[in-house]
Amino acid sequence: MPGPQMTSNLMDEVRTGLLANPRRLPPALFYDAEGSALFERITELPEYYPTRTERDILERHAADMLQEAGTDLELVELGSGSSTKTHLLIHALLSRQPDGSYVPIDVSATALKHAKSALLEAFPRLEVRPIHADYLGGLASLNHGHARRLVIFLGSTIGNFDPAQATSFLRSVRAALQPGDALLIGMDLAKAPTILIPAYDDALGVTALFNLNVLARLNRDWGADFQLEGFHHVALWNAVESRMEMHLESQARQFVRVAALDLEIALSVGERIHTENSYKFRPGVGEAILHDAGWLLERTWTDEQKWFAVHLARC
Ligand code: SAH
Ligand code: AVI
Repeated sequence: MPGPQMTSNLMDEVRTGLLANPRRLPPALFYDAEGSALFERITELPEYYPTRTERDILERHAADMLQEAGTDLELVELGSGSSTKTHLLIHALLSRQPDGSYVPIDVSATALKHAKSALLEAFPRLEVRPIHADYLGGLASLNHGHARRLVIFLGSTIGNFDPAQATSFLRSVRAALQPGDALLIGMDLAKAPTILIPAYDDALGVTALFNLNVLARLNRDWGADFQLEGFHHVALWNAVESRMEMHLESQARQFVRVAALDLEIALSVGERIHTENSYKFRPGVGEAILHDAGWLLERTWTDEQKWFAVHLARC
């Protein structure tokens, strides 16, 4: 039966994607309760360097980042997930002002619920106002006439959009804000495929489970009948596009029905469903996207290996 997060937009995207050539599924599908929990396990894997690299940058520079962003800030986070790394920014915020408010926006209800209780325990003086919505829907529902906002977008989640989508998305984020508001955005940088590929194809197979969960979710919530053992997780480096790609490859000729969409598809042996792109930004590319979206880049912080960048940009 359809799940609570099944909107008609998502249904249209899934239908169009499954009928497309090559077939694809939207990445927002990853994040139901199971998918959010699997993502948290990914962030702890030795191969998945982005989380710990970005966390190290935040650990070293959180106070500096907030100082650059300005005074009397309200923090708003897009795709906040567990908000674990954000604790570092909130800690820095509450070290310089008596109280503060934080608005996490996420499509995953369970991620928001767990994040809120951990935050309230760690920061009793923090006001937490979660919004269960997609990025732009959540931003649109913020009220105006507020203090200056710092919008946080971590994890290189911007890399899950292609460059044109990322530019148009960041333009829409800017349009939802006021002059003087700021954006703190994490971007994963291009590096050797020998580092990148294991990050998306780990030895324990957690990323494979995360990828396959998309089909499991369609089975659970949308009455689909994907046989999970009939699909293999594929992670590949696309050097031309500078992105990691995840696919699910059909191991046999098979027919699949998605009851909620009244849709039936036939997959051939070796046919792939493209589930995710993770762009890895070459020097200057992330900066150009921010510029093209109308943001003024003020500061960039990176790690010593230059594996990951966190930018602060002004509206
Ligand atoms: N920011 C966290 C989590 C990244 S995982 C980190 O850096 O670790 C991506 C998060 O974005 C997930 O929590 C997922 O539920 C959320 N998400 C994915 N698509 C979304 C959308 N369209 N709107 C809002 N949240 C979304
Ligand atoms: C959320 N997003 C930035 C992650 C990424 O690296 O693209 C999701 C993920 N996919 C596989 N592993 C992690």
